[in-house]
Amino acid sequence: MSRIINGVVVAISLCLAWSCAKKEAAEGQSSPVASDTSVRQGVTTEGSQALYESKCSVCHGSDGTAGIAGAANLQLTSLDTVALRTIIADGKNAMPSFKTSLSKTEIHELVGYIKTLKK
Ligand code: HEC
Repeated sequence: MSRIINGVVVAISLCLAWSCAKKEAAEGQSSPVASDTSVRQGVTTEGSQALYESKCSVCHGSDGTAGIAGAANLQLTSLDTVALRTIIADGKNAMPSFKTSLSKTEIHELVGYIKTLKK
């Protein structure tokens, strides 16, 4: 009988450990270093560059430094992933909001692309 109980306890704790790990990965914020590398490796695609060129470079320039219409220098941004996502979605002052014209995935890809612009 106690063997069965032991087995159940082990199974439950394994489940808990696994779902915690999954939650952490999904939030991506609990370890900034890990989430940074996943963004760098995962979404630095030609697709996100094309998106950036068509939607963002008019103000920010291809390398992020143009500063047209007072646009922030993206090479110097100190914003984290969440703050970058928020400003792209909601806009700020002269920066337009993109949440109706871009999907969450596209915004996420642009965040990854901005990180590749940083020196
Ligand atoms: C019409 C011009 C314009 C376009 C188009 C534009 N931006 Fe901006 N962006 C701005 C301006 C202006 C700011 C500065 C806002 C402020 O702080 O007042 C800014 C700020 C930002 C910031 C914040 C940087 C920081 O460190 O504060 C990010 C990130 C950003 N833009 C990303 C993007 C992305 C990605 C796109 C394309 C989807 C884009 N922008 C398109 C004008 C623009």
